[in-house]
Amino acid sequence: MRDFSITIAGGGSTYTPGIIMMLLNHQDIFPIRKLCLYDNDEERQAVIGEACEILLKERAPQIEFEYTIDPVTAFTDIDFVMAHIRVGKYAMRELDEKIPMKYGVVGQETCGPGGIAYGMRSIGGIIEILDYMEKYSPNAWMLNYSNPAAIVAEATRRLRPDSKIINICDMPLGIMVRMAKILGVDEKDLDIRYYGLNHFGWWTQIKDKEGNDLMPALKEYVKENGYDISITEDQHEDESWRETFRKVRDVYAVDPETLPNTYLKYYLYPDYVVEHTDPKYTRANQVMDGREKEVFSAAKEIIEAGTAKDCKFMEDDHALYIVDLARALAFNTKEKMLLIVPNEGAIENFDPTAMVEIPCIVGKDGFEKINQGRIPQFQKGLMEQQVSVEKLVVEAWIEGSYQKLWQALTLSKTVPSAKVAKQILDELIAVNKDYWPELK
Ligand code: NAD
Ligand code: G6P
Ligand code: MN
Repeated sequence: MRDFSITIAGGGSTYTPGIIMMLLNHQDIFPIRKLCLYDNDEERQAVIGEACEILLKERAPQIEFEYTIDPVTAFTDIDFVMAHIRVGKYAMRELDEKIPMKYGVVGQETCGPGGIAYGMRSIGGIIEILDYMEKYSPNAWMLNYSNPAAIVAEATRRLRPDSKIINICDMPLGIMVRMAKILGVDEKDLDIRYYGLNHFGWWTQIKDKEGNDLMPALKEYVKENGYDISITEDQHEDESWRETFRKVRDVYAVDPETLPNTYLKYYLYPDYVVEHTDPKYTRANQVMDGREKEVFSAAKEIIEAGTAKDCKFMEDDHALYIVDLARALAFNTKEKMLLIVPNEGAIENFDPTAMVEIPCIVGKDGFEKINQGRIPQFQKGLMEQQVSVEKLVVEAWIEGSYQKLWQALTLSKTVPSAKVAKQILDELIAVNKDYWPELK
């Protein structure tokens, strides 16, 4: 067994401490020799970096640790980049959410106009990190979970088709952990089939190890409760997430043949979402007042105390899928995982050039897709519309095209008309001047 060198890009992220705790607790299965945090906001990262330095000195002094804003230092001699950057940070997320809401349109981090705006900011940041990695550590893998993952994945497919990047999301896994709890089984024992786009997919099979069909029992539960269960120890525990899990009941009702991803509520019930959102206090505000404050004050406490003995950093359970992915690539475990990959026939009756989320077998040479067959008209129609939005955003970014971005917003199922699309777009352009390419 060898040990690995990892760079976390977006070192100042609220998720960094949880991932480091999780990595520390899994040294037996995934040993680390070097850990580096990289960010382009020196001040923000320094708080997390200093606290993690104290933590690592106490709990894993054998790991070489540093935090830096210098790309040469960050990307030299590494095996994996784990990327979770947020270009524009929460200040821009807040605008992504609030501007559409002015027009009665869903304001969301990754869905609708907000997700499009975020995509236009993320593409450049991710390509930059990918290029640093390839320049200084050409054999490394980038595991990207920076959002909006669907748009980022399409952008890297177009712009860096041969790069060693895998895009992933924790939502399906988070839902499967809930499914397993509902069924009273272990999540690792679920044998699933799933297809869709990122934040836009459906389960078509859930079986146990022996091949018994668990769908009927699960559907009985979901029909009444969605995926809402009373667990408190995960990242998605607060009231707005519980509401999302409950709403799955209504999403499920539209197609009781499958079980849906939570994010479909923004496309199938946009009116409900808008009615239940306070336009002055959106999810970004909740996160800034919640997770961000908690993580940064925990970090500051460590720095002030000079010790991480009573540290409040919590291991991020969900993030275990990132270690599973890195382990699969490093040790050829051939684990089955949901990844965002080029379709190329895996969903037979769907655009071969689309980036789709499907189960794959992961090993040393990367991933092998598992064919999901043909999909029904309802899902196909929804996915064709949404994938076109994502492709138009990437084309708009590459070509600097106002027209294509307007088309992207117009095509989004969350937007009622080309007129509203234009109004929202023009406001988004004005506030994104520092982040988007110039549009003509
Ligand atoms: P955050 O704002 O706390 O952290 C993001 C960090 O990225 C900041 O410190 C920021 O300075 C840094 N950054 C921004 N642009 C950068 C660049 N060009 N280069 C280097 N660093 C840069 O955000 P967060 O809430 O912790 O989320 C981080 C990211 O993880 C977001 O993209 C979020 O959507 C994503 N996320 C994805 C999943 C998934 O399922 N794929 C799950 C959770 C979070
Ligand atoms: C889920 C999704 C992520 C998303 C996150 C938002 O985990 O899979 O893609 O970034 O939720 O959570 P937040 O608490 O920031 O609203
Ligand atoms: Mn996600």
